Amino acid sequence: MTLVVSGASPCDFVLRGAGELVTMAPGSVPGAEGELGVLRDAALVAREGRIVWVGRESDLTSVAVAADAVEVDAGGACVTPGFVDPHTHAVFAGSRAAEFEARLAGTTYSEILASGGGINSTVRATRAASLEELEVLTARRLDTFLLHGTTTLEVKSGYGLTTQDELKMLRAARVEHPTRRAYTHLGAHFVPPEYEGRPDEYINMVCAEMLPAAEGLAEFVDVFCDQGAFGVDQSRRVLQAGEALGMRAKLHADEIALSGGSDLAAELGCISADHLVHIGPAQIRALRDAAVVAVMLPGTSFSLGAKYAPARDLLAAGATVALATDFNPGTCYCENMQMAIALACQGMKLTPSQALRAATMGAAAALGRADQVGSLEAGKWCDLLILDGEGHHELGYHFGVNIVREVMVGSRRVVSGGCRVAVSGGHLHDARAAVS
Ligand code: NIG
Ligand code: FE
Repeated sequence: MTLVVSGASPCDFVLRGAGELVTMAPGSVPGAEGELGVLRDAALVAREGRIVWVGRESDLTSVAVAADAVEVDAGGACVTPGFVDPHTHAVFAGSRAAEFEARLAGTTYSEILASGGGINSTVRATRAASLEELEVLTARRLDTFLLHGTTTLEVKSGYGLTTQDELKMLRAARVEHPTRRAYTHLGAHFVPPEYEGRPDEYINMVCAEMLPAAEGLAEFVDVFCDQGAFGVDQSRRVLQAGEALGMRAKLHADEIALSGGSDLAAELGCISADHLVHIGPAQIRALRDAAVVAVMLPGTSFSLGAKYAPARDLLAAGATVALATDFNPGTCYCENMQMAIALACQGMKLTPSQALRAATMGAAAALGRADQVGSLEAGKWCDLLILDGEGHHELGYHFGVNIVREVMVGSRRVVSGGCRVAVSGGHLHDARAAVS
């Protein structure tokens, strides 16, 4: 077989020796097996950070590769796409460890929230932090995401709750780091103390002032629509105001109680509805029919000792399901998508394959990036993981430890032997400069 890889420059990155390469794109390559499109004894070739060829290693000889191309040998290990985490609150200051103890002693999340703790305490600490302090905290967390295999993540604002503090959060989220990021405005996360008892006035301010000020800094708009947070009409106003500014709508929906969030997400055709712990058959059908991605957050259920969302029913109905950490200081202090996969298997009874698909392709769909990341196929970013194990079934099964050994982002090696590789800024596509 002769492979012609079109393009001006020769390929600059070659990965060989994948005992198993999970393309996540069944049918894209001859020989790719099963629902995840798994190739055995596989190789992958990239140019300027993008994949140009995936196939059997025995077919590699015919691909034109530059003499000084970066060569990576997976040594028979399993290679998967980098994880995509489509729901995180990665920018904040302060600690909520004491609250965790109170919850273990029986105080509920809603009680803590109502008594001025919870989100309020993170808002106080985040307002008091400078942009530079938030950048340092965020970069450290992004390193942890990356070390555990997350190469693309969404980051929300929502602990500033003033126009300037929300902007500060969105700027801190852009701290220089190899992870790819999507930014979401969550100004309608909670009614801040200065608006106590006047939620509609706060919503007016979010729509008229906060969201317009964030134009260009946020791709998505989100609202905490739930019992004890914002109602359906208030949420609709915020999402429509964001959409009028070109932001795509997401929604925290039906986490604490069935309160109309999923129905609103379906009505507005949101790109995703997240949490969905309390939804039933009618909401599942509505989300599927409106092509709203259902984002599952099993780490939050685990951390709160709460019910898990009906992920299997969503899949059975034909909805697109994504998996995310919900990393935040209150309800899920965990950056690790491997843990989310393990919890999706045990708590939601997904198969490891379903959970891995939700953590890659499903998650990419929840961010409108299914054409860029989430699978290993020609045209996508060369963002991949080499696992400590020969098969993807290790994920979920080998839990509570980090089984990601190597991480590439745009062909650039950013984690090696389970440790962060220090690379200076530069362009993600410059593989040779980065792996010297
Ligand atoms: O997604 N549900 C609302 N927001 C976050 C929790 C935020 C917090 O407690 O700080 C969530 O679970
Ligand atoms: Fe959240």
